[in-house]
Amino acid sequence: MRKQVIAGNWKMNKLMGEATQFVDEVKGQVPSFDQVESVVVAPFPYLPKLVQQAEGTDLKIGAQNMHFEESGAFTGEVSPEMLKDLGVTYVVLGHSERRELFAETDETVNKKTHAAFKHNLVPIVCVGETDEQRENGEAESVVETQVKAALKDLTNEQVKDVIIAYEPIWAIGTGKTATAEDANAMCASIRKVVSEFAGSEPAEAIRIQYGGSVKPANVDELMSQSDIDGALVGGASLQPDSFLSLVEAGK
Ligand code: G3P
Repeated sequence: MRKQVIAGNWKMNKLMGEATQFVDEVKGQVPSFDQVESVVVAPFPYLPKLVQQAEGTDLKIGAQNMHFEESGAFTGEVSPEMLKDLGVTYVVLGHSERRELFAETDETVNKKTHAAFKHNLVPIVCVGETDEQRENGEAESVVETQVKAALKDLTNEQVKDVIIAYEPIWAIGTGKTATAEDANAMCASIRKVVSEFAGSEPAEAIRIQYGGSVKPANVDELMSQSDIDGALVGGASLQPDSFLSLVEAGK
C-alpha cells in the first residue's frame, strides 16, 4: 500500500507574512504523516522560517528547485546541502516551467536527482507532455524518455524512494484537468516503464503523483485511481482551506 503525497507548489507566489500565516493556520490541521504526506513547496527565502514553524508537526516543507553541484561559482543558485542544512525534506526537480523557461534538461534533472539522494532530500521529479505532443500521439514516449533519463544510474533502492509527478503541460494552470482515467493510464504506463527499467519491486513502491489543475472538486476522483499516489498542486494549494481539503483527500 503506497502512502499518498499531497504537495502544494506555491511557485513564485506569496510574501513572507502570507507564507507564515498559511503555515501557522494549517500545520496543526493536516492529517498525520502516517496517513498522508502533506508538503508545502515554498520559494527559497521562506524556507528557513517555514521549516522552523512546521517543526514537530505533520506538515513538511519542500523546495522548488536546487543546483546539483555541491558549492562553488554558481551565482544565484542554491545547493542541495544548503537545503538539507535548513531542514528541508522534499525538492521538486525538473518542473515543466523550469524545463521550458530555464533550460533544464533531462540530464540536469538526472544530476539533481542523484544530488538529492546524496543529501537525503526526497526528489519529486516532474515529467509531462505538451499539448502538441499529445495531439501527435507522442505523450507516452515523451514521458517514458523523461522518466528513464531522470532515473538513470540510480540504485533500485533509490528508485523506490523517488516521487514522480506526472504533469501534462496543457493541464497546468489552465483549468483543464486530464480525466481521472487518462491521468491514471499515464501513471500506470510510468509504472510499467519503471518496472522494465528497475524491476517490479521498485515499480510497485515508487509513488506517482498527478498534477495539473487539481482542486478540491476533482481531487477525490483523481486520488481514488489505482496508480495515482498523490498530487502536485499549484493554484489550489495557495489558500489554507483549499490546501487542507486536498490533503484530506490523500488519506
Ligand atoms: O506543480 C504544480 C503544477 O504545475 C500544477 O499547477 O496551478 O495547474 O495546479 P496548477
